[in-house]
Order: sequence, then C-alpha cells, then structure tokens
Amino acid sequence: MDQLVIHGGVPLKGEVFISGAKNAALPLLCASLLTSEVIAFTNLPDLKDVNTLIQLLMSMGVQVEHQKNSIRLSSTSDINSFASYELVKTMRASVLVLGPLLTRFGSAKVSLPGGCAIGERPVDLHIKGLQAMGAHIDIEQGYIVAHAKKLIGTRIFMDTVTVTGTENLMMAAVLAEGTTVLENAAREPEVVDLASCLIKMGAKIKGHGSDVITIEGVKNLTGTDYSIMPDRIETGTFLVAAAATGGEILLRGARARSLDAVLDKLAEANAFIEHNDESIKIRMKGTNHGVSLRTAPYPAFPTDMQAQFMAMNAVADGTTVVTETIFENRFMHVQELRRLGANIEVEGNSAIIRGVSKLDGATVMATDLRASASLVIAGLIAQGETVVDRIYHLDRGYERIEEKLSNLGANIKRQTTEVHS
Ligand code: UD1
Repeated sequence: MDQLVIHGGVPLKGEVFISGAKNAALPLLCASLLTSEVIAFTNLPDLKDVNTLIQLLMSMGVQVEHQKNSIRLSSTSDINSFASYELVKTMRASVLVLGPLLTRFGSAKVSLPGGCAIGERPVDLHIKGLQAMGAHIDIEQGYIVAHAKKLIGTRIFMDTVTVTGTENLMMAAVLAEGTTVLENAAREPEVVDLASCLIKMGAKIKGHGSDVITIEGVKNLTGTDYSIMPDRIETGTFLVAAAATGGEILLRGARARSLDAVLDKLAEANAFIEHNDESIKIRMKGTNHGVSLRTAPYPAFPTDMQAQFMAMNAVADGTTVVTETIFENRFMHVQELRRLGANIEVEGNSAIIRGVSKLDGATVMATDLRASASLVIAGLIAQGETVVDRIYHLDRGYERIEEKLSNLGANIKRQTTEVHS
C-alpha cells in the first residue's frame, strides 16, 4: 500500500500546472455513448477514477485509444448496455452511463452505486427524472434496470441540487423527443463544461450555468473534439496549501472565474491573489487569519474544499466554524487532524476549530478523497514527519500530487509498504 511521507514546515514556492477536471472528465467520457462518431478529449487528467470509467466504457464495447492526457472514444451501435457492480461500486459517478445508454439504446442495466464513506448519496433523483421522461425502471438485485422505447421531454423539478443528477438527465434529454426543462438544476462549472461539449456535438441546450436548463431533443449527435476544463478543486487545494504554508505560488492553466467563493475566503484568510485568464498567483501576506465557512451548491463554497480549509484553520488565529450542508458524514478528517494536534470539536454538521500555534507530525489515515488532501496540507504545515496512509483515495482525484508539491519545494515522497496478512 502506498503512503506519503512529508517533512513539513517548508513554504511552497514556484509554479504548478493544473490538470483537467476530474468531475468534468467523468460525465464527458460518458457523453461519448451518445453518438456513433468519434469523440476526442484533450486535457484529460491521468487519474484512477478516470481510468475506472474508461474500463467501464470498454467493458461495454466502447472503442478507446487512450494516451495519458488525451483520448478518442467510439461507441458504434454494438454496445452492451450493462454496467457491472464490480466496476460501479468503486466509483459512484459510474451511474452517469445510465442516461446516455437509455436515451440512445432504449435500455440499460446499471448497478446501484451503494453508499460511500462521506454519506448515503442516493440516486433517487436520477431515477425519478428518467421515469418522468417515460422510462420504465425497476430495481432488481442491486441493479437499475431501465427501458424506454423513446424518452419524452418534460418538466423535471429536482428538490435537491444534484450535480451528477443534472448531468445524467441533461444527457438523457439531448436525444429525447421534445423539450425537457430541468428546474433547480446544478450550476456547477462542470455541468456547463458538459453542456458546452454536448452543444458542439449538435445538442440544443439553453440555460446551463443557471438553475433552469432547457434541452430540445435532437435525432442524432455527432463526434467532436473537446478540451476539458481545468480542475477547480485541484486549483483550490494548491492555493490552500500555499496559503497554509505561508508560501507564494503561480498556478498555470487555472481558471479563477470558477473559484470566486474559494478566492474570497483565501483573501479573508490574509492571502494576496492576482489572476488573469490563464493563471492565478497567491502570496500569503502575513499571519493566517482563518475563515469560517458554510458549504452549499455552486456558486457558494464547495463541499470538496471544506476539508482543505479546515487544515489551514487548524493553525490560524482565533476560532473558526466550518459548516457542512451537502453531505452528512464529511468530517472524517477531524479525528486525523486531531492526531496532529489540531483543536477541533464537532457539533452536528459544524466543526469548531480553535487555532493552535503548531501541528506536530504523526501517522494519519486518509478516509476519502478530499480528506486525504486535507491531511497532506496538514502534513505540509506540521513540524517533523507526517505519514499519510491509504493514499489510494488521493490517487482517485489528484494527478501526480507528490511530484507537483515537490516541484514547489515540499519535502514529500511516496513509499510503498509491504502488506502482511
Ligand atoms: C458531485 C461531485 C462531488 C461533489 C458533489 C457536491 C462528481 C463526479 N462528483 O457528486 O465531487 O462533492 O457533487 O458538489 O461530479 N442527492 C439525493 N438524491 C440524488 C442525488 C443526490 O438526495 O438522486 C443528494 C446527495 O445525497 C447529497 C446532495 O444531493 O446530499 C448533493 O449530491 P450530488 O450533487 O448528487 O453529488 P454527486 O453528483 O454525487
């Protein structure tokens, strides 16, 4: 099993290149199921989650030519619309094949993703939306079994804002008959990236980026090539790492306009930030003031950045409160941060963080993707050696993180330990 060994206390300095967005790449890869023509993506991040999805698509018969950061996919009519539990269970976003398979091929059998470490995360809204479009759906032995000769456009109201739910229904609607209106839709930049690619493929979509998306179904979509947007969560993670270590870095390929809430909070924490269309520069001006925050759907503060800010707050001036409103069990990093000396108390869905003057290195265990990022940041702040165990979570969503951090001056290395049973 791989671990990261970090010797903290070094302010990050230098330049880092931001990779393509995981959460944009996953739905975009699924969109290739919507056409028999070739879809080519560039700026594809080289990540475990992306590779899992590619494996799933290949298991269905999608032809793939994949190099590290680019891919060409072709889904001729010879596709087997089956997504097995074995592949879906490792990654929830696999459920994004459901909408495209059903709308193009008329049937799909996709495993239910099940629970996950950060909360229950049902897919009821994906299913309800497809049913509203006329799909017949049964749950059989853990599988969503869906049939629809032709999906029919309709008005769909989602009572919770769901990112992948919006994406699944948008992909289903592009080949449906008539007009679909998605209300209370997710406004996340990754939803907009997917819509932009679908439009390049010939889809008729309006309102993406707002909470009402209107999709007029078309008969066929064509192939296209598309460059995936930069990863705003990877960007945010490096920004926080720089701020928390009192550093100064330039993030190339980063897009500031998808990060307003995060940049505001960093400025409040005492960082000086400059940006243009292609890069963001951050410099910590002095003491880390810490920031209270509350997660909510875009454009508010992203839940995927909550854990990283908590690590920074652990050594800030004074007391801060972090409130999580999206997922019910997303404080698993708290007990690990405490092992490094952080003073954090959890009350319901809020964490109260009393800043301490320093963290001390220890062995900690990563529990989910963003919690892992928070522990890496804590390790970069802590004095002495921190070992972050179970970093396979980190490899799901961060491309070459130890190499990128090393290039910024961090003392970090990956080591593989023997597993004895
Ligand atoms: C996506 C992101 C994930 C991010 C999350 C919230 C991807 C691949 N993943 O996850 O990184 O943390 O958005 O920004 O893009 N819900 C329901 N019923 C449903 C669907 C969702 O009740 O059918 C609830 C969930 O339990 C959760 C909330 O809605 O409480 C938001 O979840 P959702 O936006 O769907 O998260 P994901 O799309 O899975």
